[in-house]
Amino acid sequence: MDGAELGAQLERIAHEVRSCERCGLHATRTHAVPGAGSAGAEILFIGEGPGFHEDQQGLPFVGRSGEYLSYLLNLIHLRREDVFITNIIKCRAPNNRDPLPHEIEACRPYFDRQLSLIDPLVVATLGRFSMRLFFPGASISRIHGQARIDGGRAYLPLYHPAAALRNPNLRHDMEADIAQLRTLRDEMRQRRAAGEIAAPKHEQKTLF
Ligand code: URA
Repeated sequence: MDGAELGAQLERIAHEVRSCERCGLHATRTHAVPGAGSAGAEILFIGEGPGFHEDQQGLPFVGRSGEYLSYLLNLIHLRREDVFITNIIKCRAPNNRDPLPHEIEACRPYFDRQLSLIDPLVVATLGRFSMRLFFPGASISRIHGQARIDGGRAYLPLYHPAAALRNPNLRHDMEADIAQLRTLRDEMRQRRAAGEIAAPKHEQKTLF
């Protein structure tokens, strides 16, 4: 698939997300937030769900957490346009409550399709909800920063930027964890180029 077709398919998903009514969150949203960034991204970030500012603007990570995420990306010389950023649930949960299992379930196919199309070398999960998609049953304080390579892709569990903003003690870990991203990406590039590991053919099924 060429870049234009890939972009068109991602835009088709975004279009479906913006008019989605698969769960009750559509009733209270201002804007759905499909995700943003490069269709050819080698690194994909997945957060939890849109907050107030994201709901207002229809874009992921544009509030305080997003500022900190941009700062973290800057530390490793990446720009937001170099990566793809999305969330598990694409509509804001009232009062920023935790996403409910049926909301995650309803929204999951959008993420699966985005992941399959973008086919990044590294998926960086932000916070425990997105971590659980790939590390079921794990505790974020135990496994943050420990990448797992599986099916031609690396998965790196990171703290949520909001957690690091709330608890400055986590910032050192967060910054050390994110510092691995470029090396991890380069390693995955080499391994895929050497044919050591094939790109994933099928995405994982919902683990909730
Ligand atoms: N928190 C998230 O998990 N996602 C966003 O887009 C913003 C804040």
